[in-house]
Amino acid sequence: AHGAAAMRPAAWWRRERKALLELGTGATPCYVYSLDQIREQARGLAALGMVDRWHYALKANPHAQILRTLHAEGFAFECVSWDEVEAVRSTLPTLAAERILFTPNFAPREEYRAALAAGVRVTLDALHPIAEWGADFAGREIFLRVDLGAGRGHHDKVKTGGAQSKFGVSLDEIEAFRAHARRHGTRIVGLHAHLGSGILDAQHWRTVYAQLASLAEPFNRIEVLDLGGGLGVPSRPEDLPLDLDALGAALAEVKQAYPQFQLWMEPGRYLVAEAGVLLARVTQTKRKGDIHYVGIDAGMNSLIRPALYEAWHEIVNLSRLDEAAEDLVQVVGPICETGDVLGNNRRLPGCREGDVILIAEAGAYGAVMASHYNLRKPAAEVCL
Ligand code: LLP
Repeated sequence: AHGAAAMRPAAWWRRERKALLELGTGATPCYVYSLDQIREQARGLAALGMVDRWHYALKANPHAQILRTLHAEGFAFECVSWDEVEAVRSTLPTLAAERILFTPNFAPREEYRAALAAGVRVTLDALHPIAEWGADFAGREIFLRVDLGAGRGHHDKVKTGGAQSKFGVSLDEIEAFRAHARRHGTRIVGLHAHLGSGILDAQHWRTVYAQLASLAEPFNRIEVLDLGGGLGVPSRPEDLPLDLDALGAALAEVKQAYPQFQLWMEPGRYLVAEAGVLLARVTQTKRKGDIHYVGIDAGMNSLIRPALYEAWHEIVNLSRLDEAAEDLVQVVGPICETGDVLGNNRRLPGCREGDVILIAEAGAYGAVMASHYNLRKPAAEVCL
């Protein structure tokens, strides 16, 4: 376990401790994002060279400064709702519409119409839109999202393939989809698959890429294969980071076999997760039975991932980073649910009221999934 953690570079927030402590003694809870860290992640992906177009899946974190930063790094954008499209367009008014991918699921008809009218690239992931609203797509180019039959990811709730998932057109319905498309003169120019989120095995995308490529061959107009996102980041100490060299090599192999297709990808988490931390302050401590609780002012209302997916986020006491982590504690929030736990069985130095607590790897699916539960204000957001 220690070996794996040792292979990872020290997190940026250790270098920024002073600035973060200052922020943490202001208004908490507060998300802090390092734009430099986001640039570093973006450049690591761009350096692969193998991918013809990278899209940022902004569902992970739609903060305007993050959108501007990734735009400057040459990223296009993947949106899952019309409001996400509008957020990109209002933040980046000069962005060409064709650099926006609209990849919704069970969206209402008006959203597809708005996207087509705006010139945004649309991905269909069911028969319903092409069968029932075919006229909207007449003469248009679209992408088709397929379900390759299995999902993958860090938790069942984020696996988006297989019979139990609501995403994509299953393999045995592709012919029916094509028949509807032909009838309306709709051209299927891209095939898309996204099997899930938080995948650390680089070989995963080789498999998806090869499956999509062999599916695409019989179509005669496919130009693009979009492998979705899902690129994971290590969270537990024993996790190894995604091996980018291995990913590049795996993609290169398929690309060589199918040079006729452009390769697109749409990562969210990989770009922003490690760039974000959530700062909170200790409100109270308590011993009850065998359990030692450390209460902080950020709960499941600010970061729902531990409660929803049993996600593991590293937690440190920033005010006592140099002290020995001796107490075994439960880090809990102020919300009226037993599930309001941010970290279970964590070793922390003796926490006192007012200490600044840092929850790491919180830049993806953190602030954007916050709620108003208990009418507590969700965390603020600051960029460094
Ligand atoms: N493309 C599509 C079609 C997607 O549905 C998603 C994520 C992505 C790309 C980006 O996936 P990423 O690279 O970020 O893994 N809230 C969960 C994650 C849900 C992901 C939903 N779709 C979490 O906090 O783990």
